[in-house]
Amino acid sequence: MQAQVAAYRSTLSEKEDRALASMLVAYTVTATLWLLFATAIGILLAYKFGAPDFAPGAWLTFGRLRPIHTNATFYGWASLALVGLAYYVAARSSGTRLYSAKLAWIGLVLFNVAAVAGTIALDLGYNDGTLEYREWPWPIRLVFLAALVVTAWNLIGTVARRSTEDIYLSNWYTIGGALWTCIIALVAVLPWYQYGLGQVSVSGYYMHNAVGMWFTPLVLGIFYYALPKVLSRPIYSYALGVFAFWTNLVFYPIIGAHHFLFSPLPWWLQTTAIVFSVAMLVPVWGGSANFLLTMRGRLRDLVHSYPLMFIFVGVIGYLVGSTQGTFEAFRSLQEVWHMTNFTVGHSHLTMYGFVTFAIWGGVYALLPLATGKAPGALGLSLHFWMAVVGSFIYVISLSIGGTIQGLDWIHGAPFIQSVVDIQPFWVWRGVGGLLMFLSHIVFAWNVWRMSFGPSTTAPLASAHADEAVA
Ligand code: HEM
Ligand code: HEM
Repeated sequence: MQAQVAAYRSTLSEKEDRALASMLVAYTVTATLWLLFATAIGILLAYKFGAPDFAPGAWLTFGRLRPIHTNATFYGWASLALVGLAYYVAARSSGTRLYSAKLAWIGLVLFNVAAVAGTIALDLGYNDGTLEYREWPWPIRLVFLAALVVTAWNLIGTVARRSTEDIYLSNWYTIGGALWTCIIALVAVLPWYQYGLGQVSVSGYYMHNAVGMWFTPLVLGIFYYALPKVLSRPIYSYALGVFAFWTNLVFYPIIGAHHFLFSPLPWWLQTTAIVFSVAMLVPVWGGSANFLLTMRGRLRDLVHSYPLMFIFVGVIGYLVGSTQGTFEAFRSLQEVWHMTNFTVGHSHLTMYGFVTFAIWGGVYALLPLATGKAPGALGLSLHFWMAVVGSFIYVISLSIGGTIQGLDWIHGAPFIQSVVDIQPFWVWRGVGGLLMFLSHIVFAWNVWRMSFGPSTTAPLASAHADEAVA
């Protein structure tokens, strides 16, 4: 079955349309503030590699700022932006209003309270330090869990009110992502798994599922809605999208132990994680092929549509970053790359080249449709090119530098030799990071234009302003 872009207009009243638009604006604006904050910290961290004595003092130490950066990008920036888009897609693709606008606002407050409290706690030195990506003290993580439950409930309620018979593919992914993450976040907070080897395996489970069962399905859900909308054509194959959904669900949850290869975790568990990391090629290549085939014959449109360009980079980031991950999981390559800056390159190729670009594509495609306000062409091109060039420099420099670092260790060179060898690549990472950060300032300006700027009669992404995709 192929998805059709149905030619009916929104059945919502003007008031309900406005409520949906305000919600999307609120999520996008707060997410953008988190992006600015988190990546300003990222720049500071990057420069500390070249000048470790710069910005001394307990509050500005690397150990405190690093988890502030990772948690703020994950839970402030990416989560808030994706939840706002997921609500918009759920309502529009179902031809209905939100189940509860009030719950959406409550969720927004809870997400932000958790992120602010978590940031302050980390900077004051209160943390669950051994638990990666869940360093916030556990009571704060419970607030985040409450926000997730509210979001899942509201998304399900919205889709249950749909005026169409089928549940559009996007909603499978976004509702699935919200439900799985409630379970993952619950497991991550239960006290009896937080010591010994149990803690290690739960850490792998949590870390990888945060990226694989939260960000990935939400982003794929946005792709399945925004891409047909920007191109005004149906997705290439609905069946392939469903197939990728189920294989993603079967393979992803079992691969967390690939973060701990050569650790005291049982050997069979590590091997299972490697096998399923290879199996991940099925949903990744299936999903990417579906997006690329939807764009077939239309690549020339890229030049005229920035939302499409952002989405295109996001799809390539998904394909290349995840395929790289499969290779990274082999023991022979882990020997070289584990613990090196190569992994930091992989993190940014995926969380930035895939997740962040996809969010930008979604925001540029959908926010102007919601508000009737568009950013300027200069702002769009500045944002796109600085972000692309900056992240390219970032990822390539760390991939090369990280490989040299790993080879130095294998050859038994003194540790300080590996620091000397990687130094120039850290400088390049700083240059790339600066371009990325500047692009975020331009993005913030564009968000301002799309939210509070003058109305435009020419929506950016599609002439079919309020069509539902069914
Ligand atoms: C689906 C295929 C993927 C596979 C098989 C894979 C594999 C891996 C492996 C083996 C590592 C550990 C590297 C090490 O510690 O030496 C890793 C780290 C990481 N991956 Fe992936 N990856 C995949 C996709 C993704 C995606 C889509 C994202 C983001 C949305 C992502 C985000 C990350 C992050 C943030 C880390 C760093 C974790 C840490 O702090 O240790 N990966 N990945
Ligand atoms: C201006 C842009 C950015 C800069 C300069 C930057 C810089 C950094 C630095 C210096 C680190 C520490 C690396 C280390 O410990 O060796 C880091 C870690 C990390 N950053 Fe960023 N970052 C940026 C944007 C982002 C964004 C937007 C995201 C997510 C959406 C992100 C996700 C991460 C993750 C997951 C890690 C942990 C990496 C790992 O352990 O493998 N960063 N970043």
